[in-house]
Amino acid sequence: MATILEQIDQQLATIQQDERWRQLPAIENAKNRWMTFNGKQLLNLASNDYLGLADSPVLAQAAQAAIAEYGTGSGASRLVTGNNDLFTQLEQELAQFKLQEAALVFNSGYTANLGIISAVAKRKTLIFSDRLNHASIIDGVKLAGAKHIRYRHNDMDHLESLLEKHRDIDNKMIISDTVFSMDGDLADLCRLADLKAQHNCLLMVDEAHATGIFGAGRGLAHALGVEKQIDLHMGTFSKGLGSFGGYVAGSRKLIDFLINTGRALIYTTGLPPATIAANLAAIRLLQQDASAGSKLCDQAVALCHKLQQQGINTGASASPIIPVILNDNERTLQVQRALIEQGYYVGAIRPPTVPVNSARLRIALRADLTSAELQHFETTILEQICN
Ligand SMILES: Cc1ncc(COP(=O)(O)O)c(C=O)c1O
Repeated sequence: MATILEQIDQQLATIQQDERWRQLPAIENAKNRWMTFNGKQLLNLASNDYLGLADSPVLAQAAQAAIAEYGTGSGASRLVTGNNDLFTQLEQELAQFKLQEAALVFNSGYTANLGIISAVAKRKTLIFSDRLNHASIIDGVKLAGAKHIRYRHNDMDHLESLLEKHRDIDNKMIISDTVFSMDGDLADLCRLADLKAQHNCLLMVDEAHATGIFGAGRGLAHALGVEKQIDLHMGTFSKGLGSFGGYVAGSRKLIDFLINTGRALIYTTGLPPATIAANLAAIRLLQQDASAGSKLCDQAVALCHKLQQQGINTGASASPIIPVILNDNERTLQVQRALIEQGYYVGAIRPPTVPVNSARLRIALRADLTSAELQHFETTILEQICN
């Protein structure tokens, strides 16, 4: 039996052999669409700051004003003294924005999923979860100790057959991303809502990549008009909203339950006031004008179409996340390096983040690109892949 350190050596050796070695990229600055990497200026097509709000002066001013008024840290967990009226305002406005009774902020999208699922699900709960759901959902299910039943990606017939099989069990929950983070495709929320109603389960969605983009910024559930049929609307401020922190919106009862039992809320210091103020500013910006998200989706669909016409596999993407599925790990890294040479930074995603033999470039299109930049990127990526 190997010691822990011997096991670690073995694991690291395997990771290297499989070309799955990860290291933190030496990014000097990635404040807006331009990033500086190894001294070179690159167009950043890898971040989730889809709307460019991470560099919005409106958010920055809100954050600075909050530091001046409230200080840099919240000092304690929210149930002790870490709460302040910025949280109250944010949660009220967020609940209205999401057309739900109440909302609750968590310290990140990751901890929101951990906190919600581990509070709501018990050991005997059956959790039906899309096979491509985000890692934070999987970790939440593990933490809950619940029974995890994974259905084939976006396969509603498969989900239905699994629900039928377990029809005698009352304690059931369905969880799905709405926009899948590594594929950019969309969940069939109408069918999920029907199945939830037929089988009397709790339905939770993760709108991390849909917030700010679909449904006038409110999410895919709103775009499809099924927001009232979903019990828990989880999302994050860290992607399209350009800031940081997770959230959930739902009924007053569910939010009260999470405040009382959600360990990921109870046992951690509240987010800094600057972050809460920036989140509030982002929600208000979207309420004034949320047109950037749908325009961005149109641009993404057009780019996908051009890539597909050249025989490039972009899966079923229907969002600003465009996977260019090259399958091979080394080839993916090689094209990523070539694009860096040409002035573009796109993500190179390899197993275990995606299934074996499905390594891909992950293009995250953003709303602050000029049409000349977009056009030049399109030409460059086609040259790099097709030549
Ligand atoms: C679908 C999904 N859910 C949750 C998260 C976690 O959100 P955060 O980055 O705010 O912790 C992510 C982020 O990668 C995500 O893609």
